[in-house]
Amino acid sequence: MMSVVQNQQSLEQGIVISAQNLRKNFGLLAAVDGISFSIKKQEIVGVLGPNGAGKTTTIRLLTGLYRVLNGSSIQIFNEDITMNPLLYKSLFGIVPEISNAFLDYTVLQNLQFTGQIFGLTKKEIKERSASLLQQYGLTDKAKTLTNALSKGLKQRLNFCIALLHDPPILIFDEPTAGLDPISVRVLREQILHLREAGKTILLTTHDMQEAQKICDRVLIINKGKIIVDETPDALRAKFGNGRMILFKPAADLPETFKAGLIAIFSRGTSLKLLKNGYYQCPSKDPVGDIVKIHTFFQDNGISISDLKLEETSLEDIFIQLIQKERESNE
Ligand SMILES: Nc1ncnc2c1ncn2[C@@H]1O[C@H](COP(=O)(O)OP(=O)(O)OP(=O)(O)O)[C@@H](O)[C@H]1O
Ligand SMILES: [Mg+2]
Repeated sequence: MMSVVQNQQSLEQGIVISAQNLRKNFGLLAAVDGISFSIKKQEIVGVLGPNGAGKTTTIRLLTGLYRVLNGSSIQIFNEDITMNPLLYKSLFGIVPEISNAFLDYTVLQNLQFTGQIFGLTKKEIKERSASLLQQYGLTDKAKTLTNALSKGLKQRLNFCIALLHDPPILIFDEPTAGLDPISVRVLREQILHLREAGKTILLTTHDMQEAQKICDRVLIINKGKIIVDETPDALRAKFGNGRMILFKPAADLPETFKAGLIAIFSRGTSLKLLKNGYYQCPSKDPVGDIVKIHTFFQDNGISISDLKLEETSLEDIFIQLIQKERESNE
């Protein structure tokens, strides 16, 4: 452990995780198909991607659940320590997609068991458990059977289990999925605190707001490959073109009008009819495009009942990117 800890100190600002060319096949399916990324100390990196994209498999490769194949490599604190599984596993605190807490253990028993696995002393287990349970609002549940906890409280316990051995790297697979807004907020705040406390964090999420709010960088994975590796701001600047124009015609548009409408924008603009009757299109030049839309409707004698401009959200960008990928594969 010593050399890794020293390395960690010497790499105060540096790269904590560096993974090259990760691969995993299930039969003929390339679930992870040559993924490379690195994560810096105290960075929160969010992995986004549609169901089945390979997010969980990537996490399993990274955390040593699947063997790293020839041609792939992983360095943690600048060292390839995948050959030392015990040391390797001790560097990670993992909240998996499917919890591995024992349902027939009490909350405290789960923590004690985890502490024993990681070779903590009885005193360490006692002190760390008490402090984590307090931090996560579980002190009065210490003797409750895990099975009897609500979903939100179970997830808090999963966080405590991941943190018990005080690992430098934390991996959360959909940490807030299916939780109520208050629990979501509590766990997001904890994740931000963990970054402040010096941890390096990788999480997966389907919640674009989560990515936008707490991630320093996002990786978008599709079909086992990284298609985007950017900060949320850079992503918006690069793909979002800043703004989204929304407008609602006062009457239904005949098909011929729609073609004319699309033609007024620069090529490649996607014009989408939303369920609420609004048309939506991303715009590089919102003022110019709004004038064009206005003129087009005026020329065609149809009025616009509403027109508005919104920031492109990460969600819009995500949907655009994944749709583009799908179209280019058809
Ligand atoms: N143990 C397995 N055996 C066979 N196929 C698997 C296995 N695990 C994952 N896969 C397949 O590999 C692909 C990637 O799965 P993975 O669980 O990594 O996706 P994901 O991005 O985490 O999806 P989700 O958002 O639904 O959690 C999927 O097509 C999945 O069906
Ligand atoms: Mg998954």
